[in-house]
Amino acid sequence: VLGAAGGIGQPLSMILKNNLPAGSKLSLYDVAPFTPGVATDLSHIPTDVEVSGFTGDDLPKALECCDVVVIPAGVARKPGMTRDDLFNINASIIANLVRNCARVCPKACICIITNPVNSTVPLAAEVLKSEGVYDKHRLFGVSALDVLRSETFLAAELGISNQRILVPVIGGHSGTTIIPLLSKVIGYEQISEDRIKALTERIQNAGTEVVEAKAGAGSATLSMATAGARFALKVVKGLMGEPGVNEYSYVEGGSKVSSFFAQSVVFGVNGWERVLDYGKVSAYEQSLIDGAASQLATNINKGVEFAKKWLSENK
Ligand code: LMR
Repeated sequence: VLGAAGGIGQPLSMILKNNLPAGSKLSLYDVAPFTPGVATDLSHIPTDVEVSGFTGDDLPKALECCDVVVIPAGVARKPGMTRDDLFNINASIIANLVRNCARVCPKACICIITNPVNSTVPLAAEVLKSEGVYDKHRLFGVSALDVLRSETFLAAELGISNQRILVPVIGGHSGTTIIPLLSKVIGYEQISEDRIKALTERIQNAGTEVVEAKAGAGSATLSMATAGARFALKVVKGLMGEPGVNEYSYVEGGSKVSSFFAQSVVFGVNGWERVLDYGKVSAYEQSLIDGAASQLATNINKGVEFAKKWLSENK
């Protein structure tokens, strides 16, 4: 976990310590000097997962032999900011971390939480390409929190258990690029058109809802850690050969809408194996997909252009 001592990193690391398969090793890295202390703290939890903590120049040591790298590092937004406003600070953080991954654990599956995900993932792809190790099947943008939120809000709307809800969320992880396919939910026909629109907009603005509620103290950490851990544990299951494990993720997956696109991917022993088609959507959802394409292209281009500049300045 890179950024392991932060607001997302700590609970994420705790969930992983409690849920990774027995015999796993959990490696924590953060620029915060107390990161080895976070590892010591976690090491007292009685699970068969060995934890180590690194800081400062020890990033390469932290990455040795890693199969999965989860990256929540970076700064969070404050009220009034969009995810895109974080780009200038977080882009170079991602470029540097991903270059280290390329050099130390080139085969690792890299799961990026750091915002703006729509741009940091294509940026990471360029850095991996420049090191000659890019494999689109091993690079993921973590958009799973949009799925968790949709499940929560829809379950409340329909008055049923969260366990019975599955909501596909495609597109990207920011504003109108977040496209929940509510037409796929059992019980959809009971919800009025106005409510569908209101629920969609709430899902699209849910990150901002937390940012505003925290009033300057950051963005979602606990729900994001839950989503990030759920995602990483599924990647691990795939690597261990468990069949039929899938999740929504922002990947370079051959979508007709955009080169990088959040869609359902099936995990396997080499990362994501294939994309599941989302099938027929409602006219409203199609209008959202059409509307997201140009925003995604702009976000992707921003990541790619930054990478070119960063790579030329940081040989
Ligand atoms: C979220 O969806 O909560 C995160 O992407 C953080 C944010 O800035 O909204």
